[in-house]
Amino acid sequence: MSDFDVIVIGGGPAGYPTAIRAGQNGLKVACIDEWKNYDGSTAFGGTCLNAGCIPSKALLESSELFHRAQAEFATHGIKTGAVAIDIAAMQKRKAGIVKTMTGGIVQLLKAAGVTALQGHGKLLAGRQVQFTAHDGGVKVFTAKHVVLASGSQPMPLKTAPFDGKHVVDSWGALEFASVPKRLGVIGAGVIGLELGSVWRRLGADVVVLEAMPAFLAMADQQLAKEALKHFKKQGLDLRLGAKVTAASVKGDVVEVSYTDAAGAAQSLTVDRLIVCIGRRPYTGNLLGEGTGVIVDERGFIKVDEHCRTDADNVWAVGDCVRGPMLAHKGKEEGVAVADRIAGLYAHVNYDAIPSVVYTAPEIAWVGATEEQVKASGREYKVGSFPFLASGRARAMEAGQGFAKVIVAKDDDQILGVHIIGPMAGELIAEAVLAMEYSASAEDLQRTIHAHPTLSEALHEAALAADKRAIDMPNR
Ligand code: FAD
Ligand code: NAI
Repeated sequence: MSDFDVIVIGGGPAGYPTAIRAGQNGLKVACIDEWKNYDGSTAFGGTCLNAGCIPSKALLESSELFHRAQAEFATHGIKTGAVAIDIAAMQKRKAGIVKTMTGGIVQLLKAAGVTALQGHGKLLAGRQVQFTAHDGGVKVFTAKHVVLASGSQPMPLKTAPFDGKHVVDSWGALEFASVPKRLGVIGAGVIGLELGSVWRRLGADVVVLEAMPAFLAMADQQLAKEALKHFKKQGLDLRLGAKVTAASVKGDVVEVSYTDAAGAAQSLTVDRLIVCIGRRPYTGNLLGEGTGVIVDERGFIKVDEHCRTDADNVWAVGDCVRGPMLAHKGKEEGVAVADRIAGLYAHVNYDAIPSVVYTAPEIAWVGATEEQVKASGREYKVGSFPFLASGRARAMEAGQGFAKVIVAKDDDQILGVHIIGPMAGELIAEAVLAMEYSASAEDLQRTIHAHPTLSEALHEAALAADKRAIDMPNR
């Protein structure tokens, strides 16, 4: 008899939901996680809760409030005098949120009857799992099913090696104790834009070096163009087509050399440098000999569309497998695997995974970009609506950006929705649901949206696809 029905290795947003759902399904479950914080404390929640989604959003919120107090309050007639930021207090608030949320996961695991084990898990042949506790004690458990959810780690850059103080990864950049006067960021991806925004709003001069000539290449390019305009206005110095050739710490500064888009050699001196050029799957010491699990040439654990590895009853979910590295994608995969193990129906719709960049304005999308639809050859129509024409956005002093809906001409199916503007990350949920139900533009058009809300922008964009918008002239 096996010790457990299911052992999950990794307690991040892919692993812990797997364990909870497996527990809800009446299975005997263990979840092993080895996360250690800078201060040596252990916590469930993985990258997302400890060093990713949650702390970054806490700092985005604080820095945005600081910025608005300085730049916007006067417009509302609010007089504050000089506004100052206390970085220690801001960081303390962030740490408190992380602690509460990660503590909550332990409670959730307990409530679902999951045995939570802190230490290293290693899959051995025959679905045995070797558990090495943080105190060094070793046990070997057997399981009917093993789910690998070991996550990812920041990609290093040979020309700009991390030193943990001056040249840091995203986690280091969440922990700065003071605002760097000059901040360099390598990579204008999601992390570069979010963390670049945080420190820019708090007063840093921020230069972002992006290797690609296109900005936000994965996004709809109309959205990307609008975003670039706003980021430049906010003072983010975005340099596209910049290839970093060297970065070295000299005293307390970092000297960065790069070639610009024209191929000319350039240099930059900064006080801190964040390297955020993507993340790579993490499978360090995860697999023993003869497990049958295959890791591909890019380091991802090979899985089929149901997250099955090449080994019987061994599954893998989240950042360590193909697909976007997003917490909600990992969560859905984990829940689906736990249901499949229990013999239940499960489905992950990879075509309806929302992406959100939590900058100001926020950027969010789901489905195909206009470039992708055009390339597919399918005839389409586009409707968009500017937040400038939204009463609620105006009342919020947030009339920037637009909502855009891309619709198939033949059957009116919604193919993609792209929003840049206030609360875009919340608004996109309606579009995700619409796409999940294969809604048509007409379905959105006939759905009543409360007035005045930001969601009316999506309603009007759907109407605009048929030149039937009410609150703006149709072109
Ligand atoms: P992880 O969260 O990396 O968790 C894996 C866990 O497994 C870790 O605790 C690790 O210590 C543990 N582990 C690994 N190997 C072993 C082993 N052998 N034994 C025991 N334990 C092991 N995504 C979003 O969707 N929204 C966001 O807003 C967002 N913001 C982000 C901001 C930043 C700065 C970063 C860095 C990432 C952000 N992400 C965001 C991405 C998100 O954090 C990841 O997609 C998500 O954490 C992946 O979940 P996971 O469970 O697969 O891996
Ligand atoms: P990313 O893939 O989003 O962006 C990396 C950027 O770095 C790209 O624009 C790439 O062209 C550029 N780049 C690559 N090599 C370079 C080099 N040598 N020099 C200069 N630029 C270079 O990766 P990022 O920002 O590190 O984030 C990792 C992942 O974490 C994201 O892909 C995302 O899945 C997740 N994440 C999600 C968030 C969200 O959902 N809001 C927030 C933060 C991270």
